[in-house]
Amino acid sequence: MQIRTFIPNDIPAVASIVREALRENYPTSLYLDIHKWWREGFLIADLDGRPVGFLAAVVSAEAQARVLMFAVAAGFRDRGIGTQLMNTFLATCANRGMHRVELEVRRSNLGGIKFYQRYGFDIGFVLPSFYTDGEDGYKMFKTM
Ligand SMILES: CC(C)(COP(=O)(O)OP(=O)(O)OC[C@H]1O[C@@H](n2cnc3c(N)ncnc32)[C@H](O)[C@@H]1OP(=O)(O)O)[C@@H](O)C(=O)NCCC(=O)NCCS
Repeated sequence: MQIRTFIPNDIPAVASIVREALRENYPTSLYLDIHKWWREGFLIADLDGRPVGFLAAVVSAEAQARVLMFAVAAGFRDRGIGTQLMNTFLATCANRGMHRVELEVRRSNLGGIKFYQRYGFDIGFVLPSFYTDGEDGYKMFKTM
């Protein structure tokens, strides 16, 4: 398993993880935009040439990163891939002199919330009806 930066060839695999794990459908252009905005902030977990997880982030303010998407394919969870993606991402943020990382998570996603809390993210506030299906989100922050 290797953590590397995203390349455009990864789009079909990433889009399939997004549909299954995040229940969202985004246009190809979104992935290309994120890649253009901050190359080191778009990470792929590559298992023998196959993307099995990814983390996509942007620079959202001065010294602040925002995680837009983070998921590991269902058959590949609970073996440390998410941990490796998050550790690599937080090291990238530290190298870039980021002071804060923000993200959103579904209120019902107790596993995701617990995962983020383990990395020092705290719940900031509720985002009412944040998701396309109407579910509330939590905004979470980590100060570095
Ligand atoms: C959140 C998510 C990205 C975590 O990815 P993951 O690869 O399963 O993460 P890890 O394997 O590193 O950690 C998950 C669990 O496995 C355990 N684990 C870590 N390394 C392990 C290993 N080598 N062997 C066995 N278990 C391990 C961790 O302790 C953790 O335990 P927990 O159940 O108490 O949380 C993944 O669950 C996912 O895609 N969920 C759906 C989408 C989602 O919720 N995204 C985030 C919110 S938007």
